Amino acid sequence: MSRTARRALVTGGTRGIGEATAIVLRDAGFDVVITGTRDGGAAPAGCKYVAVDLAKPANAEAFAGEMAAEGFSVLVNNAGMNKVGRVEDYALADLENVLNVNLVAPYLLCRALVPGMREAKFGRIVNITSIFGLVSKAGRSAYSSSKFGLLGLTRALALEVAADNVLVNCVAPGFVDTDMTRRVLGDAGIAEMVRQVPMGRLAKPEEIARFIAFLCGDDNSFMTGQTVVIDGGFTCV
Ligand code: NAI
Repeated sequence: MSRTARRALVTGGTRGIGEATAIVLRDAGFDVVITGTRDGGAAPAGCKYVAVDLAKPANAEAFAGEMAAEGFSVLVNNAGMNKVGRVEDYALADLENVLNVNLVAPYLLCRALVPGMREAKFGRIVNITSIFGLVSKAGRSAYSSSKFGLLGLTRALALEVAADNVLVNCVAPGFVDTDMTRRVLGDAGIAEMVRQVPMGRLAKPEEIARFIAFLCGDDNSFMTGQTVVIDGGFTCV
């Protein structure tokens, strides 16, 4: 076993999909490091917490270097943010925040961790995109720019690292019952979206996390460069 074996880094693991993923990976026997934004924040029991603001590329790059020195076999680029607004009302600073957290930071983390994965001849990277990285909705120009970008990173990187047994995939959730969904949609917006989901409900974070964990484990041995949509049928309509 290499020094990176069964070590997983999950960005944005303090709540929602990231927290659920950290718990599933921990229960599967991984040593899990999660990130949050606040100094002294809490990780799920048995996981290690590190604070980093991924909206600042210099921070993200320094953090990525530190994580590369520790070594990881699994990277889940989960941390994300959304700000809904019409394109003409979007401030440059808001655009930069969304792109930095959702796309630049995952890129920098992949760049830093891939050499160790190549050396170990084992790596699993899961990028959390969105149904709005495949289809979209008015008001999501920045968010969709970032998530479509992450899809491009996933496909190109999958080709670069495939021969070294480093597999890179996307999971694209639909509407999940998390703080982000409640903040962006509100109760009325959630009720409206749920009416359009064939399964008639939001996903639970665990329902996304279980598939992320599959992609991170030994059972996924040949799937790379793909996007798996978990949306209760929303994008089939
Ligand atoms: P959430 O808002 O509940 O949690 C987001 C996580 O990202 C938190 O741990 C937070 O600390 C971290 N984060 C936010 N800004 C950060 C920053 N500047 N620096 C470092 N970390 C930061 O979000 P949720 O819903 O669990 O989303 C997780 C991922 O899933 C995101 O990438 C999101 O775009 C994606 N997603 C979520 C959907 C949903 O319905 N909730 C649907 C599709 C995709």
